[in-house]
Amino acid sequence: MDIHLYATCPDELVPALAAEIAELGGTDVRPAYKAVHFQASKEVYYAAHLELRTASRLLRVVRDAAAASPQMLYDQAGRAPWPDLFEPDRTFAIESIAAEGRDAGIPEVEITRRVREGIVTSFTRRGLPPPRVDTGAPRIGIVAYVERGRCTFALDSAGKSLDKRGYRLEGHPAPLKETLAAAILRMVGYDGSTPLFDPMCGSGTIAIEAAMIALQKAPLIHRGKGEFGLEWFKDFDRELWRATQERIRHRRVPAPPQPIFASDIDPAYVDLARRNSLRARVERDIAFSTGRFQDAKAPAPAGLLVANLPYGTRMGGASDDLKSLYIEIGDTLKRGFQGWTAALLVARDSPHKFIGLKPAKKIPLMNGTIPAWLLLFEIRPWKTPAA
Ligand SMILES: C[S@@+](CC[C@H](N)C(=O)[O-])C[C@H]1O[C@@H](n2cnc3c(N)ncnc32)[C@H](O)[C@@H]1O
Repeated sequence: MDIHLYATCPDELVPALAAEIAELGGTDVRPAYKAVHFQASKEVYYAAHLELRTASRLLRVVRDAAAASPQMLYDQAGRAPWPDLFEPDRTFAIESIAAEGRDAGIPEVEITRRVREGIVTSFTRRGLPPPRVDTGAPRIGIVAYVERGRCTFALDSAGKSLDKRGYRLEGHPAPLKETLAAAILRMVGYDGSTPLFDPMCGSGTIAIEAAMIALQKAPLIHRGKGEFGLEWFKDFDRELWRATQERIRHRRVPAPPQPIFASDIDPAYVDLARRNSLRARVERDIAFSTGRFQDAKAPAPAGLLVANLPYGTRMGGASDDLKSLYIEIGDTLKRGFQGWTAALLVARDSPHKFIGLKPAKKIPLMNGTIPAWLLLFEIRPWKTPAA
């Protein structure tokens, strides 16, 4: 029987995530607000946890029903088949989300209390001891989502958030979320078949995610045993899980079809990016160097340049320094990167107009809490202005 799942992501990434889920074999794919619902066979359900690049979390729906009052919420939680899903000796914690905010419906503390009582009842009704709550390090995470008189109860089958790939060390003040880097690469159509260059690589996220795409390497394949929530569910099929991991590992190609380059002005960040790439096991697949973007030469006749530019906020707003940097970046692209496509992630309040090129596309994104644009430029051959 198919499993009903939903994956969460920032709202702007919903189309990218829905497409990724469909490619993976998810069916009945339904985009929603900051989430994508879908059905999956058990094999696709396992593969989704290892392979999805743009999902933040994955949740397995247990019950979706009307719940207009605290009593109804308790009744619905009591009717859900929790004892079929996890053993009574597993600890659990409930995360409640009242979609309409605290004042509109049932307050979140009340949701948590009623759902907890319902879960306890579902075990005791079957003559089983009730599982214990552990809000610190629960084995079973439960999400209770309440919106307009309906509740959705789900098991957190990913456990740790999926953007925590596990390769990134501390040390950079403004790293891009791994899932956002993967989504940007997807939005610009990167599949490993063109050279890629990040000239402002910071901790290396874009290049590392690109290497994983080019190698057809699943982003979560190195997560340790027991770290996915689904490994603690009653129906966990260790054999199928291992077979899925093996199948995915075998698909990895030996090297990226086209080279991946990354550089940064700061040697400490280049070193950090190199160490991160080692942890992600793609160190041999990225050519790192230190240098200014303004001095960079195109490392191939054509390719894709993807960069996350320094933000105005961290460099003191639209300072003259930042304006000059954006002017110089525009000149560098125009003079040295003809034939390339450039995708630049910039803060919306940055002086991006000073780049002096007309974007072919402008995609609104949120970089954490910072409203951003992903600007796409097709760099045409440079024409010397007539004298
Ligand atoms: C917003 S951060 C990039 C973060 C990166 N995407 C990550 O995930 O860690 C911008 C980077 O640009 C670098 N940078 C600033 N000015 C530069 C320049 N002129 N040339 C090359 N890199 C520069 C900074 O050292 C910083 O690491």
